[in-house]
Amino acid sequence: MTAAVSVAPSPGMRELDGQVALVTGGSRGIGRAVAKALAEGGAKIAVVSRDGVRADQAAEELPGEGHRGFACDVSDSGPAAQTLKAAEELVGEVSILVNNAGITRDNILLRMKNEEWDEVMLVNLKGAFNMTQAVSRGMMKRRQGVILNVSSVVGLSGNAGQANYAASKAGLIGFTKSVARELAPRNIRCNAIAPGFIRTDMTASLGEGVVDGLVELIPLGRLGEPEDVAGVARFLAGPWARYITGQTVSVDGGMVM
Ligand code: NAI
Repeated sequence: MTAAVSVAPSPGMRELDGQVALVTGGSRGIGRAVAKALAEGGAKIAVVSRDGVRADQAAEELPGEGHRGFACDVSDSGPAAQTLKAAEELVGEVSILVNNAGITRDNILLRMKNEEWDEVMLVNLKGAFNMTQAVSRGMMKRRQGVILNVSSVVGLSGNAGQANYAASKAGLIGFTKSVARELAPRNIRCNAIAPGFIRTDMTASLGEGVVDGLVELIPLGRLGEPEDVAGVARFLAGPWARYITGQTVSVDGGMVM
């Protein structure tokens, strides 16, 4: 039998003290809430967003010191690698990566344009690959790291009108499992979170009728809030989750079981 090992932080310490987290799409919505939760856990945050001004502003509003904003389109591998380099110089060696940036370009299959398919794959899937590849070299050298990929419940269940988005989010789950297997020997964990319908800009355009219909499908009887996802991200990033890798955790009020 192995001896009991405490994963609780020492008194006066927070569980993510000394860690640096890079959160893509961290300027609003789920990404912003995740950045805040990780900062509350003690981590310094590199907020990455397409818009540098918004990234800086979001970083400034986080609790604690030492956070910075960075402008980057994660779908492009060059800028992704440069952003990681800049973040490591200005904030510190990244030990937590949250691939949260994502877009929708919904359409029914017969009308879906090539660009709608390609754009969603580029941001949601290739963006995660770009950032993960960039960050993994340092994590492997240091033999420490956590990677979180924000997938979606529709990556598990599918959704009419979202063939591109659902494929990208299901792809992220396969990516998560492969990275988890590949990097586990270097003490790097990789998990996915599958949010259900969360109240953000992404879902703001849904009409009231649609929201009422959705709520009927959710056993907990409400849409989720970004903080519902953020708490799970903080848990998965920290020591309580040290024996969890390759998993997809649904945060969807019980919508898909
Ligand atoms: P949002 O639209 O409010 O925020 C998305 C963020 O990603 C923004 O900060 C945006 O600037 C950033 N972003 C988009 N493309 C980018 C790019 N090429 N490079 C860098 N940053 C980029 O969306 P929300 O709702 O906060 O979604 C966050 C993640 O959660 C996405 O991956 C989304 O697919 C996923 N999700 C959201 C759900 C919801 O109901 N809101 C449900 C399931 C998953």
